[in-house]
Amino acid sequence: MKTILVTGSSGLIGSEVSGYFHARGYCVHGLDNNQRAVFFGPSGDTRWNQRRLESSLSDFHHNELDIRDRNRVLELVSTLRPAAIVHCAAQPSHDLSPAIPFDDFDTNAAGTLNLLEAARRFCPEAPFVYLSTNKVYGDAPNRIRLRELESRWDYDDSAYLDGIPETFPVDQSKHSLFGASKLAADVIVQEYGRYFGMPTCCLRGGCLTGPNHGGVELHGFLSYLVMCNLEGREYRVYGYKGKQVRDNLHAEDVARFIFEFCRSPRVAEVYNLGGGKANSCSILEAFALTAALTGKAQRHTYVDEPRAGDHICYYSDLRKIQNHYPNWRITKSLDETVEDIVQAWCDRLALGSSRRR
Ligand SMILES: NC(=O)c1ccc[n+]([C@@H]2O[C@H](COP(=O)([O-])OP(=O)(O)OC[C@H]3O[C@@H](n4cnc5c(N)ncnc54)[C@H](O)[C@@H]3O)[C@@H](O)[C@H]2O)c1
Repeated sequence: MKTILVTGSSGLIGSEVSGYFHARGYCVHGLDNNQRAVFFGPSGDTRWNQRRLESSLSDFHHNELDIRDRNRVLELVSTLRPAAIVHCAAQPSHDLSPAIPFDDFDTNAAGTLNLLEAARRFCPEAPFVYLSTNKVYGDAPNRIRLRELESRWDYDDSAYLDGIPETFPVDQSKHSLFGASKLAADVIVQEYGRYFGMPTCCLRGGCLTGPNHGGVELHGFLSYLVMCNLEGREYRVYGYKGKQVRDNLHAEDVARFIFEFCRSPRVAEVYNLGGGKANSCSILEAFALTAALTGKAQRHTYVDEPRAGDHICYYSDLRKIQNHYPNWRITKSLDETVEDIVQAWCDRLALGSSRRR
């Protein structure tokens, strides 16, 4: 039986990948230390998701480990010699990073190096998939000419009709420290591919979301927005008239792609991975979509200052990923994704705690 190592297994993407590979016969070793609770406080706690995996997947094994602990990472990978590594553990927030620069860089950049070097030493043939981010492009997408529509911004430049491609420049723009630490990791993941011939892949995610997202104000906007709607809490909109656009992809479709990549890996690849234009929405549109499902109007306030380095309009050009992997396609529309999130929050809130499940 094949073994897969999934880092950040208690988080949104890691837990989805764990379940997806387990259902296809893999022995799954998850690695997580609930660092999300350290980053975001009790509302970021992911133990509920760890317990969910442990109780529902018979061949899931949790490893309580910090990816910054180089020796323990080397030891774990040398023992497991996994057939694939999917690296999802991260400090995932743009806005939190300036307050914790050492934790951010040590986790995102150095933690990734620890895993790559362990892979090179003990399982160099194993596909290594790294969850990167669209923040590697910094705020350069904001330089594209835009047009203002009734409820959203859109590109007003025919070069970007399909969205942002992988060839978009990554430097000479403002990234936030998070974008910079993720870009450092992205480049080094590519380098382990190009230099050592390892089957590595960087997935530059748009907004990745789903029912197991523990959205908090600083990370996971759609999940957090739905939770605010259901609880009647006020959602704060930062700048751009609430018309800023994100493309959203269900975590299950992320896992589906990663499975395809592991089946036919390539070397040193980079893909933009999001919902694309068809599954994009502005914050105002997300309010309307959620309200239509819950029957509750969204309470919100407007802060007339955008978050530093925030994208005004971003959606992924999916042509490269679809061309390389024609078997992969998006199976969950934005509407279905929001429905799943609403249902999951209703279940969790009904249990009396947003984190017990
Ligand atoms: N969710 C998104 O919208 C999105 C978008 C683009 C990219 N990404 C990337 O995808 C990856 C997964 O994101 P997510 O949304 O699942 O995040 P998440 O916060 O839900 O999950 C990350 C998990 O990693 C764990 N972790 C953090 N630091 C750790 C450490 N030092 N050692 C061990 N475990 C640690 C956390 O406890 C958490 O359970 C991240 O790399 C993120 O940057 C996510």
